[in-house]
Amino acid sequence: MYFSINLVILACGFLGSFVFAANSVDVCSSCTYKSVTSALDSLPADSTVWTISIAPGTYTEQVKISRSNVILKPSASGKVQIQYNGMRDTQTSTGTNEQSATISVYGSNVKIYDMIIANIYPQTTNIANLALNLQATQASFYNVKFYGFQDTVLIATGATSYFKSCYIEGSVDYIWGYGVAYFEATTLGTNKRGGYITAHKRKDATSVGGFYFNGCTVIPTIPSGPLTSTADPSQSFTSASQFPNSCYLGRPWNQYARVVYMNSELYSHINSGGWAKWSTSSPNTDGVLFGEYNNSGPGKWNATTRVSFATLLTETEASSYSLGSIFGSINWIDTIA
Ligand SMILES: *[C@@H]1O[C@H](CO)[C@@H](O)[C@H](O)[C@H]1NC(C)=O
Ligand SMILES: *[C@@H]1O[C@H](CO)[C@@H](O)[C@H](O)[C@H]1NC(C)=O
Repeated sequence: MYFSINLVILACGFLGSFVFAANSVDVCSSCTYKSVTSALDSLPADSTVWTISIAPGTYTEQVKISRSNVILKPSASGKVQIQYNGMRDTQTSTGTNEQSATISVYGSNVKIYDMIIANIYPQTTNIANLALNLQATQASFYNVKFYGFQDTVLIATGATSYFKSCYIEGSVDYIWGYGVAYFEATTLGTNKRGGYITAHKRKDATSVGGFYFNGCTVIPTIPSGPLTSTADPSQSFTSASQFPNSCYLGRPWNQYARVVYMNSELYSHINSGGWAKWSTSSPNTDGVLFGEYNNSGPGKWNATTRVSFATLLTETEASSYSLGSIFGSINWIDTIA
């Protein structure tokens, strides 16, 4: 009896690891699948969970995750970088978000760990170069670095997402869209004078949607990582002397924009007004919620200088923006990653 129980446990253990291994596909230069796209194409069209294990290296490709329950992660320590140079002209109909984006996500419950996702299109005025086009629910990102200039990370209508210990760099409206995104312990790097971190939009006053930053670090930067070779020095920050009082926490894409920064450190590049109008002709400021709570650093709330459409939240108001109250069920989030 003693032996047979142990054998059963042993058998289950083997079976468990066998099943786990079977649900994983490797990507490397000597593997069957040499690109992330070919590995994704090999997955069955069902709802099982699959891990794409990517060897350190640079992969120049446009990745589209159409299937739910996909995990992307490095197979070993070392830098995994996925890059692409797609663009969308913000002034004409040339290009779409999907044509621009390095990674587009349409399947729900996609998780990405420990890699760089860069759009390496050269910095150009009024050209969006997305790193992430998120069109899905329950997407989560852990220690992922996203690089672009304008419109780096799109959170589309209906999308729900969680970012932890990530880095997001951009110039104009570089976290934008209509959906819900919660950023924890993430660094936001603005690389251009006059840049806006967020541009949020909701259908109406009762629609779901909002960008929430908790325990984040909000910094100015000279274009970094893959952007050092794609930046236009006439547009970017090129020295620290250009940083002070020059950037904004966000601007309202419509009057129902909702963006909250909590427990975060705001560096001196944040304009003392904090937030900008959308434009002079369409300020879009009536009805926005641009909330701030318990932030620190030289860019934090100052009652004398903050714009009239910003709100200093009370502790009770801030506590209503917890993960649980925003998402309800949070079983799709890794709480210890
Ligand atoms: C304020 O934010 C800091 C992090 O900067 C955190 O350690 C502290 O607990 C927060 N205080 C409150 C009252 O939320
Ligand atoms: C707030 O801004 C005013 C005007 O620039 C400045 O004089 C004051 O020192 C600031 N207050 C704090 C606490 O930084």
